Amino acid sequence: MERIRNQEQNRHEEEEDDDDDTISLDEAFFINDNYQLTDFTFGSQEIQLFCLHTASTDFDLTGQVVWPGAILLNEYLSKNSEILQGCTVIELGSGVGITGILCSRFCQKVVLTDHNEEVLKILKKNIELHSIPENNCPTSDGLVAEKLEWGNSDHINGILQNHPGGFDFILGADIYIHSAYYLTFIRKI
Ligand SMILES: C[S@@+](CC[C@H](N)C(=O)[O-])C[C@H]1O[C@@H](n2cnc3c(N)ncnc32)[C@H](O)[C@@H]1O
Repeated sequence: MERIRNQEQNRHEEEEDDDDDTISLDEAFFINDNYQLTDFTFGSQEIQLFCLHTASTDFDLTGQVVWPGAILLNEYLSKNSEILQGCTVIELGSGVGITGILCSRFCQKVVLTDHNEEVLKILKKNIELHSIPENNCPTSDGLVAEKLEWGNSDHINGILQNHPGGFDFILGADIYIHSAYYLTFIRKI
């Protein structure tokens, strides 16, 4: 009996020792924000922006890199820029903003959106970069970022309050949205 009690006591002491060894790391420790200023060319349009060149292992940080879908969409839009002339656009899942920023060269207003706070930080930095005079285009004061989680009515209503005219186009590259959310966008926006 005494032996069992001693074993129990030892186990408790070991567990306490283990607790003392616990190191807690802030979640920021796992985030790579070592963005590189990178050049992209779509037809006659050159875009320089900050992005990562390798994707994070966190599925929620996919927006830190530029995806092939965005390259394809931007190539299409630069070849067919007349369809965007003077229009208003909202982009879903903008990531670092490469598609919205290209659209701003032709559109009256572009609202770039994402749900991830870390991605929104780099998106806003890239928008600032494109608001400086040498990178500027005549319409770039119409380039803004908004937080938008698909299906979140508060976010959608907030955006509609700021942009009551709605939008001519809803764009998105390399994203997958449940059809129910998509219909909400169509009806509301
Ligand atoms: C694969 S990345 C594409 C980024 C960019 N469009 C591109 O092609 O380079 C998907 C983007 O959608 C965003 N996203 C994923 N789920 C979302 C959700 N439920 N609501 C809003 N944005 C979301 C991610 O944060 C990310 O920026």
